[in-house]
Amino acid sequence: STDDGLVVAVDGPSGSGKSSVSRAVARALGLAYLDTGAMYRAATLWCVRQGVALDDAPAVTAAVRALPLEQGLDPEAPTVLLDGDDVTAAIRTTEVSAAVSAVATNLDARAALGDRQRAVIAAERTGGWSGGRGVVAEGRDITTAIAPDAPVRVLLTASEGARLRRRSLEVHGTADAAAVAATHDQVVRRDAQDSTVVEFRTAADGVVTVDSSDLSFEETVDALLAVVRAAGRA
Ligand code: DC
Repeated sequence: STDDGLVVAVDGPSGSGKSSVSRAVARALGLAYLDTGAMYRAATLWCVRQGVALDDAPAVTAAVRALPLEQGLDPEAPTVLLDGDDVTAAIRTTEVSAAVSAVATNLDARAALGDRQRAVIAAERTGGWSGGRGVVAEGRDITTAIAPDAPVRVLLTASEGARLRRRSLEVHGTADAAAVAATHDQVVRRDAQDSTVVEFRTAADGVVTVDSSDLSFEETVDALLAVVRAAGRA
């Protein structure tokens, strides 16, 4: 019903700033925060730890269906537990980043993770961590496949140059030419691989595009909050 909690769906490519911006929006509105990329990353790490060959699609699917994942929804502390082990940092390594497409391009694994994401979103609309205030869910297919009926849907984009600079600063602490070049392969190749199964570069009908190329972090958060207000939900 319309009394149910708010769902804010945010998609975008790597380096668009979508994770940090979505967290800040969740914090500002008192909503839960669901990082679906973290689920793909945790699934990948689980396969690695279980000795599942990432090129064995049926084995990956089976492992993902049984994924022992506990994900924190507090935007202040989005911790990820795998079989009780805190893997919040371990899922961010370049090893996991390089391997995650094996899960992201596996349609049966996507379906299994998608079911969990829909269940979390449904729970937050009436209860859950947020007490029914709702959730900001962030990823690549949230506006289109996971929560196409969300009252607020945003595609957060940025130019390739801006995305490479941000990722480079994050990973290498600098955005000099060598660091940006080292980041290029990771960001551009991964997005190219991912976009073979999910289209997150152009906004679907009814999805509002926010281009953060020339916006600061605070300006980008404000732009998203303005979209929420325009939808009459804040
Ligand atoms: O946003 P991120 O870099 O943490 O995402 C990790 C990987 O998971 C990335 O390769 C894209 C994929 N992903 C996806 O296919 N669908 C989502 N909803 C979220 C992430």
